[in-house]
Amino acid sequence: MSTPQLQNILLVDPDHDYLDWATKHLDAESVKILRCDDADKAIKVVGKAEIDLVICDLKLTPFNGLELLDKIRASSPNTVVVLTAAFPTTGQIIESTQRGAHEVLRKEALAFELRGVVEAALQLVDQRRESSPNDDERQVAGKNAIIGISRPLQDVLKVVGRVAQSDAPVLVTGESGTGKELVAKSIHDYSPRRNNEILIINCGAIPDNLLESELFGHEKGSFTGAMARRAGRFEECHEGTLFLDEVGDLPPSVQVKLLRVLQDGSFSRVGSNEVLKTDVRIVTATNKDLAAEVTAGRFREDLYYRLNVVEITLPPLRHRQEDIPLLAEFFLDRIARRNNQGRYQLSHEAVQHLKDHRWPGNVRELENTMTRACALASNELLLPDDIPLGRAPTAAVGTMDDALKLITETCSRDGMNALSSSRKELINYALKQCDDDLSQAAELLGCSVKELKKETT
Ligand SMILES: Nc1ncnc2c1ncn2[C@@H]1O[C@H](COP(=O)(O)OP(=O)(O)OP(=O)(O)O)[C@@H](O)[C@H]1O
Ligand SMILES: [Mg+2]
Repeated sequence: MSTPQLQNILLVDPDHDYLDWATKHLDAESVKILRCDDADKAIKVVGKAEIDLVICDLKLTPFNGLELLDKIRASSPNTVVVLTAAFPTTGQIIESTQRGAHEVLRKEALAFELRGVVEAALQLVDQRRESSPNDDERQVAGKNAIIGISRPLQDVLKVVGRVAQSDAPVLVTGESGTGKELVAKSIHDYSPRRNNEILIINCGAIPDNLLESELFGHEKGSFTGAMARRAGRFEECHEGTLFLDEVGDLPPSVQVKLLRVLQDGSFSRVGSNEVLKTDVRIVTATNKDLAAEVTAGRFREDLYYRLNVVEITLPPLRHRQEDIPLLAEFFLDRIARRNNQGRYQLSHEAVQHLKDHRWPGNVRELENTMTRACALASNELLLPDDIPLGRAPTAAVGTMDDALKLITETCSRDGMNALSSSRKELINYALKQCDDDLSQAAELLGCSVKELKKETT
């Protein structure tokens, strides 16, 4: 039996207390620990000794941890790198994963978490030794502001990082408002297609008889109203990403055509037999149970497997409580910037109040709740009473009258000075929050776009 090989770990951190702490907790017979406090020294050590694992801070001098990661990966591709940061941001996690970091660890992680990460990293070192040196998993990610530090969300970001580089179809699932569209955009933003377009089609919002032409185009005269030849989204989106939202709503005729494009990139416009080719990466989303739709015979099984090459499931907000305060602060910042006004602060009680809620409408509900709280609050420090929960409209379900009544009721119940409850002001307020995007404003008000249009014209 061969004796296990001694593994070399290099710790790089400007903080000597952290170096001492990590050394103490990682010290073991099977490892040798080396340490240094800047990136220049680290690169020299990696050049001389065979280092298996580098654990380095993102903030280093004379260049930062990401640059050190790049240099290590270029000069010593089998070395595994774990980055550390006090509070890693979403962007840092995605970018580090994309650039090949094995893990991004919070510096306040407990000793057992550090040891767990190191054990997993050293196992990877062993696997790499056994496999070919070119067998190198490229990891990637997306840069849309996806806020959150919870473990379930970090796991999602890592998958985003990995799949972004490939052209594999991705199915994003999760309850309404969990961030499926945001994830789809991130996949595009971090993919090699990022300089081309991402087109977003809500399959549920387009009448069945128009959807086929919308996606694949049509020839002049192919149906009543087809006055001229028109290119479809698959043609327009060549070399880009097409995000098909609510894919569970696709009618059977379109399901067949989509299957064909996924198989070999070919399709025909409505009313034509000419075979056209396109190179489109497909990301889909649904909050339906697509497997159940297959069982019920409403969704083609072959298409389901084609779309579901990688499935990313977004956890509901109630399963990632740690993210709630961060998201709430993020929305407060954004509202303050948009309105060019001072920023509201959350009291401890308000944070607890937010954490205690179940958030059936997930992040969208939280965003709308914070927007409403800022409209209604009279003091800069938000208390639980400033943040009405639960009865708020979170989706485009009711009428404009219902929505305004609800907001007005909430205001008077809570004795708040709600923009004087004037209909016009509330509508203008909602529009301003959403940069005049009618569908978002309608969602915020909880009415249909049609209703809102009537009010604004
Ligand atoms: N982690 C997050 N960080 C920041 N904003 C988020 C996050 N998740 C969701 N949001 C915001 O919440 C809102 C809802 O997200 P999104 O539209 O992506 O959800 P969805 O899952 O597609 O919802 P639906 O199923 O209703 O279409 C958006 O305004 C989005 O920007
Ligand atoms: Mg969506």
